[in-house]
Amino acid sequence: MILTGKARLAGVMGWPVGHSRSPRLHGFWLREYGIDGAYVPLAVRPEHFADAIRGLALAGFRGVNVTVPHKEAALAAVDEATPVARRIGAVNTIFVADDGRLVGTNTDAFGFIENLTEGCRSWRAAAGSAVVLGAGGAARAVCAALLDAGAPSIRLLNRTLDRAHTLAADLGGPFDVVPWAERAEALRGAALIVNTTTLGMTGAEPLHLDLSCLERSAVVTDIVYAPLETALLKAAAARGNPVVDGLGMLLHQARPGFAGWFGVEPRVTPELRAFVLSE
Ligand code: ATR
Repeated sequence: MILTGKARLAGVMGWPVGHSRSPRLHGFWLREYGIDGAYVPLAVRPEHFADAIRGLALAGFRGVNVTVPHKEAALAAVDEATPVARRIGAVNTIFVADDGRLVGTNTDAFGFIENLTEGCRSWRAAAGSAVVLGAGGAARAVCAALLDAGAPSIRLLNRTLDRAHTLAADLGGPFDVVPWAERAEALRGAALIVNTTTLGMTGAEPLHLDLSCLERSAVVTDIVYAPLETALLKAAAARGNPVVDGLGMLLHQARPGFAGWFGVEPRVTPELRAFVLSE
């Protein structure tokens, strides 16, 4: 696509940013929809973050995604944050309003639910208790999403128990914080299992989780998408549980930003999945 002087501009700010798949993802959509626009990687050091987003707005950018390590700083730096961003405590998408104000939101919860409902049509949040492994930033978005979708309760497990208590207290709601060592037993009767830890990711330690207490009807999902089929998903699928991989969360969380900056509601298609994976 050759840009004109009227091209719409957006990007992703991170430090480092070279690992981000977002430029490829948005680039695919820009090409697919023939949009006069660009989405660029922006390597911004933490100490320059607040100045950089103000500068982008002044330079005519329509907004940016924000990734590690800027998501919490972004919440503090925007002029206005949506309720979901405040609840999660992090901003991953910024829109520059017509008057130049920076409006921050968080689309990770949206992306998580969209991926889950698309990957398993029969899944209903109200069907039963969810088990969430991990208590980092991703877990905050997942827990907020599940509570908002109507999950009756969440069993929250984390290696560092205090972090799980803090998450439960911050979000509020029907949490049951369970020690990490009791994770196999905690699966009993659950309708959904979500791994939000980095365990199982290429290069990280494996996730050791005995699934023998898990009902066969329970849906199992992992937000790790490299590898696409994690050992957790493989083991769950082998015993007949419905499984949903994590790539769709990345793809779906990008939709609201793209729509706001470029004016087209983009679709998540098998071609997009293949393209993003082919990196
Ligand atoms: P993110 O923002 O992607 O959630 P994070 O905030 O670094 O990333 O959280 C990583 C999660 O993986 C945490 O729940 C972390 O547990 P701790 O809070 O105890 O650090 C979990 N995690 C990482 N390595 C782990 C390991 N070896 N065993 C158990 N949990 C681990």
